[in-house]
Order: sequence, then structure tokens, then C-alpha cells
Amino acid sequence: MSASREPPPGARADWTIDQAWDRYTDAEHQVWLKLYERQAALLPGRACDAFLKGLEALDLNRGGIPDLKRINVELKRLTGWSVVAVPGLVPDGVFFEHLANRRFPAGRFIRDGAHLDYLQEPDIFHDVFGHVPMLTDSVFADYMQAYGRGGLRALGLDHLHHLARLYWYTVEFGLMATDAGLRIYGAGIVSSHAESAFALDDPSPNRLGFALERVMRTRYRIDDFQQVYFVIPSLEALRAATLQDFGPIYQRLAKASDIAIATVLADDLVITLGTQAYAKAKAAATQ
Ligand code: PHE
Ligand code: CO
Repeated sequence: MSASREPPPGARADWTIDQAWDRYTDAEHQVWLKLYERQAALLPGRACDAFLKGLEALDLNRGGIPDLKRINVELKRLTGWSVVAVPGLVPDGVFFEHLANRRFPAGRFIRDGAHLDYLQEPDIFHDVFGHVPMLTDSVFADYMQAYGRGGLRALGLDHLHHLARLYWYTVEFGLMATDAGLRIYGAGIVSSHAESAFALDDPSPNRLGFALERVMRTRYRIDDFQQVYFVIPSLEALRAATLQDFGPIYQRLAKASDIAIATVLADDLVITLGTQAYAKAKAAATQ
């Protein structure tokens, strides 16, 4: 997401491009396979059921980078969503317009095989493996569309920085409490080998109960593992919490201060009080 720009040459007015699936090289398909196999081995017992079910329904391991045309047949049938290819990050308004119409924009390109864990911009593995399985769940599918509509509204109201934090701490880095224990549903986690372990097992980060306004006040970091994860009781609860009109919330937030990443407040529901050892060691090493 970024400021308003013109689409790059070759892209349509809505920033979409043809995936041109035939033009992926063998080496690019191999990168997908490697990433897929690594994550598929790790995620059972870590990702939530909706994600694992979606992954299976979409059959994303058919020998390489998936053809979006094929995925879209099943995705449309299940929840009415589709995936469209884009060259890279798109402007906020364009992104929200797609979501509001049940289209998920996915980067066409795939990361370099020599740097499997390094990403400057979301690629097709993050976007399709990470995001699309959740879009097969009808509750999450509705949440994402509502988010798109809410995004267009927040843009107009100048509260995008607050709404963006909700996306970050749910769609990208969300955890869920289940009877079997904590599970991942955030795309930024399930598409990252290292963070799929860190988010659930490492003693460093705080894991706090999801509270809408609290989340919207909390800063986030884009350069390393998260220092706090917010835990929803269920997708249904997330949808219910975000159904309300955000107008009055934005008015309150305009007067509220931001919350620093590692802060724990007196009324937080603390699931894990993190040691922050990982973030502290990193900060010390880069001084
Ligand atoms: N209810 C929000 C509003 O009034 C829209 C929204 C829904 C935002 C779901 C995010 C997620 O703006
Ligand atoms: Co993402």
C-alpha cells in the first residue's frame, strides 16, 4: 500500500496484469515448490483449521506456481472471491477497491531462490500461499470485503493509519485461540518459515487478547519478527468486533495516544508476557 500513482506500463487502470502463467521459468516454479514444501511440513498443528482446509481445497501444490485461473474456479465457487495479478504494491485506494469487490491483488513475481526468506515486497508466495487459503472461509471472506469498504472510508476520513494497524495485526500477523491451543491465521506468519515457529513458540513476544481500539492504537514494525501478537477467540468474534461503525472510534482515536510495540497495559488480556529477549538482542547487535 502506498500513495496514489499511475499504473506502470503494461498494467490496466486498476493495476492488474495478466499472470502470463506460461512465462514462469522452471527455476521460478522450483522456488514455489521449495517454499511450499517447507511450509506444508511445518503448518499442521500451527495454522488454524480454516487455513489448512483452504490450502487443501485450492490444491496449491500442483508442481509449481499456481495458475490463478485454476485457483479462481474453486475460490469463486466457495466464497465468490478471486485473485488478480498485479506488478507489486498498489496504491491504497486501488487495493481497497479490489477487496471491496472480493478480488485479492497478488504480486505476479516470485522471490529469488537464493534468498528464500528475504522479501522487499509481497511476492506470489506470500500473497497466494499466505492470504488466499483464508479467503475460502466464508467468515474471513466477508471480513476482508468489509475491510476493503472500511479502507475506502478510512482514506476519506484520514484515519488509514489506524485501520492499517487492524490489517497488520489480524490479516497479516493474527493468532487465534482454539481448544487445541494457539493457532496462526495471519498471512505474514504462515508464509514465513521462521516466524511460523517464532510467533507460537518463542518466549520473546507478547501475546495479548485482541481488543479493537487497543490494536488500532498500537504501532508495528515491518523490519523483523513482531514484538506483539493479538489473539482472537474466533473468526466469528473478529467479524463481530469489526461490524460496528468505526466513525465514533476514529473520533476517539484522534485524541488517543499511540501505544508502543512492547507495552502491556493494565487492562490487556495477557496470554504470554514476552521477555522481548529477541528484540533486545537484535537492538543491541545493531547499535
Ligand atoms: N465497520 C468498519 C467501518 O465502519 C468497516 C470495517 C469492517 C473495517 C471490517 C475493517 C474490518 O468503517
Ligand atoms: Co500480505
